[in-house]
Amino acid sequence: MSSQLSGAGGTGNIPRPGPSRSGSLPQGTGQSSETSAAQPPFDINNFPFTFEHVHDASHSARIEADTDPSMTASRQWDDESITSSVSAYREENGRTYHAYSDGSWHYPNDPWELERLDWQFVCLKRLFNDKNYFAPWTQQRPPRRILDIATGTGMWAIEVAEEFESATVIGTDLSPVQPELVPPNLHFYIHDARTNDWWWPDPFDYIHLRMTLGAWADFEQDVARKAFNHLEPNGWFEAQELCPSFMCDDDSMAPDYAPKLLFDDLLDCARAEQRPIDIAKTYKQSLINAGFVDVTEQVYKIPINGWPKQVNWKTLGDLWNANCLDGIQGIAMALLHRVRRLKRHQIEIHLMETRRALSDKRVHAYQKFYVVLGRKPRPDEMVTTPGATASASASTSNT
Ligand SMILES: C[S@@+](CC[C@H](N)C(=O)[O-])C[C@H]1O[C@@H](n2cnc3c(N)ncnc32)[C@H](O)[C@@H]1O
Repeated sequence: MSSQLSGAGGTGNIPRPGPSRSGSLPQGTGQSSETSAAQPPFDINNFPFTFEHVHDASHSARIEADTDPSMTASRQWDDESITSSVSAYREENGRTYHAYSDGSWHYPNDPWELERLDWQFVCLKRLFNDKNYFAPWTQQRPPRRILDIATGTGMWAIEVAEEFESATVIGTDLSPVQPELVPPNLHFYIHDARTNDWWWPDPFDYIHLRMTLGAWADFEQDVARKAFNHLEPNGWFEAQELCPSFMCDDDSMAPDYAPKLLFDDLLDCARAEQRPIDIAKTYKQSLINAGFVDVTEQVYKIPINGWPKQVNWKTLGDLWNANCLDGIQGIAMALLHRVRRLKRHQIEIHLMETRRALSDKRVHAYQKFYVVLGRKPRPDEMVTTPGATASASASTSNT
């Protein structure tokens, strides 16, 4: 089951970051008081939830009666129950977590986390010199149908929908946390991308995802192959992903650097939950295996705080540091609680040294950020079956 949470909205001012969201929760209730009316999932182009065929003269002569009306729901898509079931969030250790496909994603969806995601968006814009994407789209050659998987607060989808007004943009997520005021060509749906139930009626020419580390048991099966099947020939798939491990190019990071030890532990916990978080480096091969061609991989560095000398890097490091400090509790809490069975106060104590070390500018640590692109070949280029690598050309570069 899936549900649309907000579709066409006004084109007026879009408050950001921290916009009004459909899923903002009054603390402690576990229920949203201001959820949007859910719509059937096929409503992208008013398809196919329509009674048109019932009223068609050729079919309307006789409507067959349900012999046992008590046994079936009158409305297949019950707005209220869909909406409340996806927003009856799990509450755990002072944070809330998605309800739809409960337990699949180990990171919170409360206002604290949403604000962090909006600032993370700002950090990544800075990392990419204000770019949102690397696929070769322009106003002369715009995408027409865009899917943003795991859209989160929807900031990327909103900006891309504003940039390409003629495109239809769809953002999906497990949580109904997207803003209510969005461009009219943008639609948000609750959808678990791991399911085989990708019910989009028309193929996309651009599928994008970002920062979904920890969402997939198997990125190639869960996403890359399905994206391939749901793209038009010549369409692009773009995956932007953080590798959370801490790196250092000099000897300033000691082997017992607390953030490194914490993330080593989180890597183990995430693997135990079958949601690995060190997956960015596997994307390129996953795309090639899925049948994409022209596969490229760019690897960027993000300083963990303002340790760099050069002002652009320093600012990015300062922004990323604030993002890490805001996020660390949410990133660690569920994994350490669910896998290591630690209590909240134990986790908070555990994080104290990590917080301090994250801001220590004597340590020149950074994380890597991957941008992986692949194109679905045209039929005349399909010299091998999807899964083979013969037609794929790939490259890697570092900045
Ligand atoms: C870190 S957020 C990133 C959001 C957004 N892409 C961005 O860059 O800001 C990851 C999002 O993935 C969503 N997610 C996790 N597992 C998912 C799944 N199986 N299907 C769809 N969305 C999922 C989470 O609910 C969360 O909002």
